[in-house]
Amino acid sequence: PNVQRLATSLDKSSQIPERYVRPEAEVNVIARTSEIELPVIDLAKLIHPEFSKEEAAKLHLTCQEWSFFQLVNHGVPEELTEGLKADTVEFFNKPLEEKMAYKQDNDGTLQGYGQAFVLSEEQKLDWCDMFYVMTRPTAFRNMKFWPTSPSTFRDNIDRYSLELTKLASCLWQYIARNLGVAPEVFVQLFKDHPQGMRFNYYPPCPEADKVIGISPHSDATGFSILLQINDEQGLQIRKDGEWIAVNALPNALIVNLGDVTEVLSNGIYKSIEHRATINTETTRISLVAFHGPDNLDMLQPLPEVVGDGKPNYGSMSYQEFMKAYFEKKLEGKSILDMLKI
Ligand code: SIN
Ligand code: FE2
Repeated sequence: PNVQRLATSLDKSSQIPERYVRPEAEVNVIARTSEIELPVIDLAKLIHPEFSKEEAAKLHLTCQEWSFFQLVNHGVPEELTEGLKADTVEFFNKPLEEKMAYKQDNDGTLQGYGQAFVLSEEQKLDWCDMFYVMTRPTAFRNMKFWPTSPSTFRDNIDRYSLELTKLASCLWQYIARNLGVAPEVFVQLFKDHPQGMRFNYYPPCPEADKVIGISPHSDATGFSILLQINDEQGLQIRKDGEWIAVNALPNALIVNLGDVTEVLSNGIYKSIEHRATINTETTRISLVAFHGPDNLDMLQPLPEVVGDGKPNYGSMSYQEFMKAYFEKKLEGKSILDMLKI
């Protein structure tokens, strides 16, 4: 079911359908959250000859301790992110019938408008609608899913996709160096990296403390870059066993390392479980851009990182890994746990 429509049909005293009500245990965890500001990495410093060393060291520590950080001075023009935000809000505010022109079909790619990870009738559902498009390499694009209205939407997605690609290539080089790997190794692995963009729409819910916007999961990516489309907060990350609410700075991009980076780095960096919560009053919209590897046959720790030590993960074909990820309903880090030695 379309969650936006469902939310509109409910009033403050409505009970929500059972399929969205999470087991008591999960709800209790939601109540025990604390709030913290994520570490901030300054890209302008990272690329500045004078400050680079210090900022790269901070990046390394942050990746080890958090795997989640806010990137400021990232170089993506504000005029572009503002335009993209306005287009996204306008798109989701269109009548359902109009959005359904872009509905997902069963091509297995999850592209289009709908809900992700709905695999069975029994499964609990996330309080979220999604709109997903593959953006790069450009040959992967299926333009039938790209909305023609608002008129600037396609162009803004395209421009943003290019900006993030440049940003990702830049970040990879610093991450590689921090891991003691020649940047060329990462450049090769992520050269024409596949990039997908998922717009998440979380409407308010009268029983917000009983639902989850997106179930706990880690991303199957190299890394993901999140842009808050409106000013609502809702992202939470699991750190040291506790759920922490993330408060994003205005204009910052939130970067999180994914499972692929955890394995490549032999666990020096860990992908972190996260989820999205819902509130009773307001809609939250976010945009996540996934950046995956391109030239990767086997997912396994990089020999350059393992050195004379021992690998902490076995190997698995990258294709198999992605297949397993998408066949599972989001379940924490279940796939990666299988690979651990
Ligand atoms: C996600 O993890 O895909 C979404 C997180 C968010 O909306 O903050
Ligand atoms: Fe995620």
